[in-house]
Amino acid sequence: MPFDSHDSALAQGKPSDSPAVLAKIADAMRAEPDPRRAMELLVEILKRDMPAYTWVGIYLLEGDELVLGPFLGKPSPHTRIPLGRGICGAAAREKQTIVVDDVNADSRYLACSLETKSEIVVPIMIGTRVLGEIDIDSDRPAAFGDDDRRLLESVAAFLAPKLDPR
Ligand code: SME
Repeated sequence: MPFDSHDSALAQGKPSDSPAVLAKIADAMRAEPDPRRAMELLVEILKRDMPAYTWVGIYLLEGDELVLGPFLGKPSPHTRIPLGRGICGAAAREKQTIVVDDVNADSRYLACSLETKSEIVVPIMIGTRVLGEIDIDSDRPAAFGDDDRRLLESVAAFLAPKLDPR
């Protein structure tokens, strides 16, 4: 039997149905009017349903700084990140998702935990305006693939209007 993407997802300990996780988050976003609670729910669902996601958090852009909002995982020393620093700063400046397979090989990386091996940062945007970002660390090297990028970019799109109800 060929080693298809379903087997690969199982081998990594991930549920093979990111669409189900996305549907769960979309439902939660629709049902929750409070932005802070919507962010907390999103973080809870991702942390619970995606086993490779060791640290899940949301940063909100305030002026030239990213300010840590709801998160699950070990407390991070990086509660405020200037736009010029870190992988988080780079993703907000470049207005695009950044995937880092090996954080220790990336000079931009600001360490949160010694166990972290890989990271994905997904901007939360309305049009070209960055509101914040979803930041996820994994203790596994190269934990984030195209499925994760698609899932998290969709999640960010569901969250964005909650943070900017204009
Ligand atoms: N690693 C991030 C900092 C945030 S912690 O991972 C929670 C960065 O390099 O910007």
